[in-house]
Amino acid sequence: MNFELSEEHLAVQEAARDFTQTLLLPTIIERDEEQRFAKDEIRQLGELGFMGMMVDPVYGGSGMDTMSYVIAMEEISKIDASVSVAMSVNNSLVCWGIEEYGTEEQKQKYLVPLASGQKLGAFALSEPEAGSDATSQRTRAVLDGDHYILNGTKNWITNGGNADYYIVIAQTNPELGHKGISAFMVEKGMAGFEVGPKENKLGIRSSDTHTLNFTDVRVPVKSRIGEEGFGFKFAMKILEGGRIGIAAQALGIAAGALDFSLAYAKERKAFGKPIAEHQAISFKLAEMATEIDAARLLVYRAAQDKDNNRSITVSGAMAKEYASRVAMWTTVEAVQIHGGYGYVKEYHVERLMRDAKITQIYEGTSEIQKIVISRGLLKD
Ligand code: CAA
Repeated sequence: MNFELSEEHLAVQEAARDFTQTLLLPTIIERDEEQRFAKDEIRQLGELGFMGMMVDPVYGGSGMDTMSYVIAMEEISKIDASVSVAMSVNNSLVCWGIEEYGTEEQKQKYLVPLASGQKLGAFALSEPEAGSDATSQRTRAVLDGDHYILNGTKNWITNGGNADYYIVIAQTNPELGHKGISAFMVEKGMAGFEVGPKENKLGIRSSDTHTLNFTDVRVPVKSRIGEEGFGFKFAMKILEGGRIGIAAQALGIAAGALDFSLAYAKERKAFGKPIAEHQAISFKLAEMATEIDAARLLVYRAAQDKDNNRSITVSGAMAKEYASRVAMWTTVEAVQIHGGYGYVKEYHVERLMRDAKITQIYEGTSEIQKIVISRGLLKD
């Protein structure tokens, strides 16, 4: 395995870093406090080609590899996991799902504006009573001529309020279990589609998380993605790729916490010398750096598996489970290193600690990742 970054990867890293330092860092504390979505910044991210990084340029994307994508996700997440989750959902779930499984008409209509950053996408799978147990969907799509009539509620939908296009997973034949689930493209503004309340969250507070309500929404049959009954497998396939994006996000949160901690530990003095020279602190830094490097290797391996068309079921789940654990642990240590300063907003690490938690929950909890990993092991 080669983990050397190419010239192209280094250029992506630098562009993402510049963007983050210039456009995200100055406003993140305020946006987090006010729960304000970075609409303009995300539009600019799209103009730079970061919203459809892996999409074929024929469909408005940047035509890059998964390694480039995880490198960009890591850089942006060092400061702003709210922006990076919007980017991750648009790239890995929505764009990839349409490019891989959509019709040519769907690609022209939805993928081109999504990949070029003119429009924003969301992925609606979770429900009040169907999170990890994704087959227990209650949202129903009933065929009526050349339309489906969609009814139900989706919860905790990232980009929910600001998206233009939504992939919605719904039951078409409940008696068939997972084989009775289908996927649809739904557009903001369709009659009966209402964006519900915004969630008031612990972390990623500048991201846009909403409930969605569907009441007799008429969705054309041609907006179904894949065959009827393909929706569950479709969701599983796109979540596999999504988990690599969230693993990279977790890696970035951890790496950002280490950057802040290193800078602080070199500057802050206690008992007559920089705290970095106290073993209690230097050992923490050493452990954080080691854990982060281990997480990075798992993330890069999963990205390389995807780029080489190898299975990412297990390697993606391992990367997400491990990197999210490292993010949580590292950010708690970062707050500890910062002491009282770590507990206030100006020093950034308390936000990273709050942001880290969601990486153990969304796109499959850590427990779900362990189910996926162990099933993979036992299958072989
Ligand atoms: N690829 C393709 N097919 C797959 C698959 C995969 N990775 N995983 C499962 N399947 C198929 C199985 O082969 C099976 O099909 P067959 O019967 O034809 O063989 C079918 O799907 C059902 O599989 P299981 O019996 O394994 O299903 P299960 O009910 O036991 O669930 C699970 C498996 C892994 C637990 C799954 O439900 C899961 O991943 N749950 C977590 C859901 C999740 O990640 N939610 C996140 C919400 S989205 C989000 O967070 C986005 C955001 O906003 C940031």
